[in-house]
Amino acid sequence: MAEKKKLLRALAGKVQDVPPIWMMRQAGRYLPEYRATRAQAGDFLSLCYNPELAAEVTLQPIRRYGFDAAILFADILLVPQALGADLWFVAGEGPRLSTISRQAEFDLLNPASEIHDTLSPIYETVRILARELPPETTLIGFAGAPWTVATYMIAGRGTPDQGPAHALRQENTALFEALLDRITFATIEYLSAQIDAGVEVVKIFDSWAGSLKGEAFRKYSVEPCRIITKAIKERYPGIPVIGFPREAGEGYVGFAQATGVDCVALDNSVSPVWAAKHVQVDGCVQGNLASSHMVTGGQALVNETRAIVEAFSNGPHIFNLGHGITPDADPDNVQLMIDTVRGR
Ligand code: CP3
Repeated sequence: MAEKKKLLRALAGKVQDVPPIWMMRQAGRYLPEYRATRAQAGDFLSLCYNPELAAEVTLQPIRRYGFDAAILFADILLVPQALGADLWFVAGEGPRLSTISRQAEFDLLNPASEIHDTLSPIYETVRILARELPPETTLIGFAGAPWTVATYMIAGRGTPDQGPAHALRQENTALFEALLDRITFATIEYLSAQIDAGVEVVKIFDSWAGSLKGEAFRKYSVEPCRIITKAIKERYPGIPVIGFPREAGEGYVGFAQATGVDCVALDNSVSPVWAAKHVQVDGCVQGNLASSHMVTGGQALVNETRAIVEAFSNGPHIFNLGHGITPDADPDNVQLMIDTVRGR
């Protein structure tokens, strides 16, 4: 099968001399053109819900750097909003949501099948991108994993240790599991609609998977990811799925087999040599340069980039950062990373 897109080739298990490359948060505040478009939209959420401008910021890093993939510009917290939670962003601090800690609050949420009115502008963004992206660029859609999304819905904000979500799962397991189920089914709906609109790959972000241990990791990170992946593959057999159980550590081992994902995204807390041996044995991996190199640059960036490419060179690999690029990153360091990967 002569698949022309480098990213899709890696996801199909092909080993390539030069791995495909993209970057988490590649459309973001480190780029002056992003900041200008966000100012034009007014604020971050208005940008997410404006299909023309959301498509524009998705395309900006493709034009500037020629990445092998574009990721839809949106946010994992749009799903809670579509389920009926209030959502707003406090400048310099992050997201705020109305909280779910009691049955009565949960009972007010919308059914999973009723998210599409709110999310229809996102599907329009996908349709624009499917038309406008260069033919060699793969379009990635995404959603948050149920556990990660639930941590925000329960606490009403980001939390350093996901304490409120852990407390609810221990004190009212039935309510916690009902919330996870609701998010799981909404996520299947949301990803299906993104695929119908034109995304070619979906990624599930479990950013807070690392705070689940042992049986809790299996039940609340692995199992929802398995259910979502199975549903997507039943509906859309050819669509690859990338799973990102961030900071899962040893939980990365066997994650692809247990969930059915085609690729496991790695954060930079695991060494590439270890991950090649224990995770890449099951198929494609993505990662895992520390995003701090995008701030500091220099020979250390070059050396670490080369070491990652080398460690993963015997199996399918997608080059990426271990987490999102930060607003203080230097756009020239991104170019240096790309030139190093592509060997120029
Ligand atoms: O990667 C991309 O370029 C695609 C777009 C994307 C965004 N958020 C845009 C965004 C994606 C895939 C996300 C995922 C996301 N959102 C995650 C999972 C990945 C991760 O980072 O762990 C999480 C936990 C969120 C929730 C979220 N959104 C937080 C906690 C914040 C505030 C922190 C921050 O970085 O500002 C956001 C805001 C956000 N989402 C921004 C962007 C570009 C910055 C908003 C701005 O322009 O001010």
